[in-house]
Amino acid sequence: WGKPSDKIEEGILGNKRILLLRRHGKQFKFPPHLINYRANIAALRELGASAIIATAAVGGIAAEVGKIVLPDQIIDYTYGRESTFFEGGDTPLKHIDFSYPYDKRIREKIISAATAKSIILIESGTYGATQGPRLETAAEIQKLRKDGCHIVGMTGMPEACLAKEMEIPYATMAIVVNPAAGLCEGEILLSDMEKILSQGYEICMDILKTVEL
Ligand code: HPA
Repeated sequence: WGKPSDKIEEGILGNKRILLLRRHGKQFKFPPHLINYRANIAALRELGASAIIATAAVGGIAAEVGKIVLPDQIIDYTYGRESTFFEGGDTPLKHIDFSYPYDKRIREKIISAATAKSIILIESGTYGATQGPRLETAAEIQKLRKDGCHIVGMTGMPEACLAKEMEIPYATMAIVVNPAAGLCEGEILLSDMEKILSQGYEICMDILKTVEL
């Protein structure tokens, strides 16, 4: 499936062996629409990942900036991405059941770890996965809101369904780094998102230290 986005680092976090892969690569080499999602998921599986917990920056549609959301549903608005390992030929096709894209058990483990540390998470929500790399129009966000999306991001798909095809339980901790388009005054600036993202990431890591898988 080609090369993953970056070298995969191996280490210990809390009492777990972890593998860390930056999906955008070093210096943000791969924008969301050019990430080799298949190579990333296949590499994690080859290295023996028994679960994947993704972190992701998202815009808030019905979630405040600074909050961490644990989505339980996803709507896919992306296009033109390689979104399956099934390529025809001799590989027998499997239509995976994708009714519940995020793994319930892993989500519950994350919630328990956060609760034990008195960290408040938004425990459910629908992630709208958009194509990017541009942000959305205000009208697109209104459409997503009507569709039932609470947060919007660009990397949720096809990552979630590829993990499901590989039978790796998958969950996402989504850090709300900006109000989605049209829901704030003024322009959405990357520079405003960065500080919130790094604070959110530290909180996610703190939770992950004690998640018992
Ligand atoms: N839209 C899509 N993806 C994002 C956003 C957003 O507002 N913020 C961070 N990732």
